[in-house]
Amino acid sequence: MQTDSLDELFKIEEKINAIFEAQLIYAKPAVFQQIEGFTSVLPLGLDKLTTWTPLNSGPASSIFPFVSTNLTSEEGILYGVNRHNNTLIVFDRFSLENANSVVFARSGAGKSYAVKLEILRSLAMGTDVLVIDPENEYERLANTVAGSFFKISLTSESTINPFEIPIVPKGEEPADVFKSHILNLVGLLKLMLKGITPEEDAILDRAITETYASRGITAETKDFTGLQPPLLEDLESVLMNMEGGRNMAERLYKFTKGTYAGFTNRPTNVDIKNRLIVFSVRDLEEELRPIAVYIVLNFVWNLIRAEFKKRIMVIDEAWWLMKYPDSASFLFSLVKRCRKYFLGVTTITQNVEDFLESPYGRPIITNSSIQLLLKQAPASIPTLEKTFALSEAEKSLLVEANVGEGLFFAGLNHVAIAVLASYFENKIITTNPEELLEQENM
Ligand SMILES: Nc1ncnc2c1ncn2[C@@H]1O[C@H](COP(=O)(O)OP(=O)(O)O)[C@@H](O)[C@H]1O
Ligand SMILES: [Mg+2]
Repeated sequence: MQTDSLDELFKIEEKINAIFEAQLIYAKPAVFQQIEGFTSVLPLGLDKLTTWTPLNSGPASSIFPFVSTNLTSEEGILYGVNRHNNTLIVFDRFSLENANSVVFARSGAGKSYAVKLEILRSLAMGTDVLVIDPENEYERLANTVAGSFFKISLTSESTINPFEIPIVPKGEEPADVFKSHILNLVGLLKLMLKGITPEEDAILDRAITETYASRGITAETKDFTGLQPPLLEDLESVLMNMEGGRNMAERLYKFTKGTYAGFTNRPTNVDIKNRLIVFSVRDLEEELRPIAVYIVLNFVWNLIRAEFKKRIMVIDEAWWLMKYPDSASFLFSLVKRCRKYFLGVTTITQNVEDFLESPYGRPIITNSSIQLLLKQAPASIPTLEKTFALSEAEKSLLVEANVGEGLFFAGLNHVAIAVLASYFENKIITTNPEELLEQENM
């Protein structure tokens, strides 16, 4: 600020005083010491006034003019560039309280892109990755790094038997593993049957236990290896012959012999021994997706527990899992329990309201140490503001953000992020039609 008029000078002085007073700092004129005062503010490093006040480091740091958070750690992967100060955001999600993350943004903001980048870089650092892909968007990435890509659909070759027998993790009791597997199956069947009465719930539990018993598998079985798992149709026949079970058996017909049998009533044939595994559910009817994802998640969850390894599981567009209480609670139970198994779950969502409407939405967020918010629709801002305690500046940043820009929260740190890929990374993960066409023509 600069002026030649005395009036203006007074106004500027008032302004500066107001700024200071807002911080509870009271400026005093250096009466009869103007020359000393002037010399002291010149960049000469001289203090001719020698008027001091001792300050604790807390208040002192609050007036330090270059405050900005650095999220650069020794280890981890590059998430992006810190837009406050152009430092790199290098971070290891496994160093936090839990390794889960949530990604929220409107469609087209760069959610999948940011996560694909994280996948590529995590693979390079030795972490294995599993992806549930609702758009066939991760296929090129999987092919490039020689990962496995399974299409789950009514006609596809890749099938998973929901009745697959769980592998017992080291140090756990077969009986406990078996019981929790049955609970998960009940959850799945509730999704298939679109809700059941409490009586039916009890019948179902018994019927599943009997179905396994017919193959010689019970809670007392000490070793499951080599045993043949039942199929859904076996449960159907058990229900048929059980009092009060007939109605459920009929409702299951669709999944055993009817149109949906292709993916719910066949033995498992996918081999998930690979560092990157993608399950695509794009070609499934919307109604079937939560069921398919439940089956896939339950299957991989068993394998994850069986072999201890650093892993990330990505669930893209997870909001449609949140629409049904049974799939939502299953997702939440994974998010809550996965730390023990060295797993971090990434939940991607474009529809914030849907996600938070579910009683499991908020707990999933609070159980995720990393939160990435990219460009938002103005309508979502009030909900987000409440959920993430956003400041005014952060709110406008989110509305005005470009593709790949937003906020990155890790624990208590908030930074503005720009997600940047290298030329070669971009080639593998882009879904920009123009860039894809260019690649084809090369
Ligand atoms: N950080 C980024 N740098 C360059 N291009 C990006 C970036 N993020 C996204 N894109 C491009 O923007 C488009 C939308 O990104 P995408 O990740 O599919 O959005 P979302 O998953 O949020 O709907 C894609 O064409 C993608 O290639
Ligand atoms: Mg996407």
